[in-house]
Amino acid sequence: MIRFSQVSKSYGGPKDALSAVTFHLEPGEIAFLTGHSGAGKSTLLKLILVMERATRGQLVIGGINLGKLPRRRIPHYRRGLGVVFQENRLLADRSVADNVALPLVVSGVPHRDVGRRVRAALDKVGLLWAERRLPEVLSGGEQQRVGIARAVVNKPAILLADEPTGNVDDAMASQIMDLFHQFSRHGVTVLIATHDLRQVSRFRPCRHLVLEGGRLLGDRVLAA
Ligand SMILES: Nc1ncnc2c1ncn2[C@@H]1O[C@H](COP(=O)(O)OP(=O)(O)OP(=O)(O)O)[C@@H](O)[C@H]1O
Ligand SMILES: [Mg+2]
Repeated sequence: MIRFSQVSKSYGGPKDALSAVTFHLEPGEIAFLTGHSGAGKSTLLKLILVMERATRGQLVIGGINLGKLPRRRIPHYRRGLGVVFQENRLLADRSVADNVALPLVVSGVPHRDVGRRVRAALDKVGLLWAERRLPEVLSGGEQQRVGIARAVVNKPAILLADEPTGNVDDAMASQIMDLFHQFSRHGVTVLIATHDLRQVSRFRPCRHLVLEGGRLLGDRVLAA
């Protein structure tokens, strides 16, 4: 589902941000990507999102060779991906439901289906009760879960998260990771960049990928 073959990324500086990274994630697999600050975690996710292009090597995501993906096909390709950021990036003047509805509206889902799918996504993250509220009245962890509902409302095959638990306490971090595991059990391929090593060892089975200075130094399966 996610296949990197000898992928390198240079931003033009003296050192590559990613160097010859090779790994493969199967559908429904959940993987944690760790590594010190500057190791290349966000860069790796940005390559999958085609926010950046690889300098060398090949990326095949959901059967699509990104090196051959024309620019005009990028929006359609991205609709198959769900993304969760550290800051939830919610629209402050729109209700929780409107925020979650956004990807559906952008993809042209018929109006009559939007409400139902938004409520299903909010229900999955335990926030159906907050549907009509503005994001600002929710706690940080609740806002982050709204961001997760928005990421999965389109039923993406792949869910990417960059430090999704960076701004929440331990208990909320565990709840958020629990959600990611539920999605992976339903067949979604999940890739999470995180500093939080406790979360990595808590949830098994899972894959653990370790980046150091742009190189993939570790790739192991943590058994249940
Ligand atoms: N747009 C850019 N232009 C130039 N250099 C960049 C750019 N984005 C990232 N880099 C460099 O690439 C390297 C990898 O950065 P990246 O953001 O991928 O690291 P990271 O592992 O996500 O770090 P953090 O844990 O701090 O988020 C760093 O040396 C960074 O300075
Ligand atoms: Mg980063």
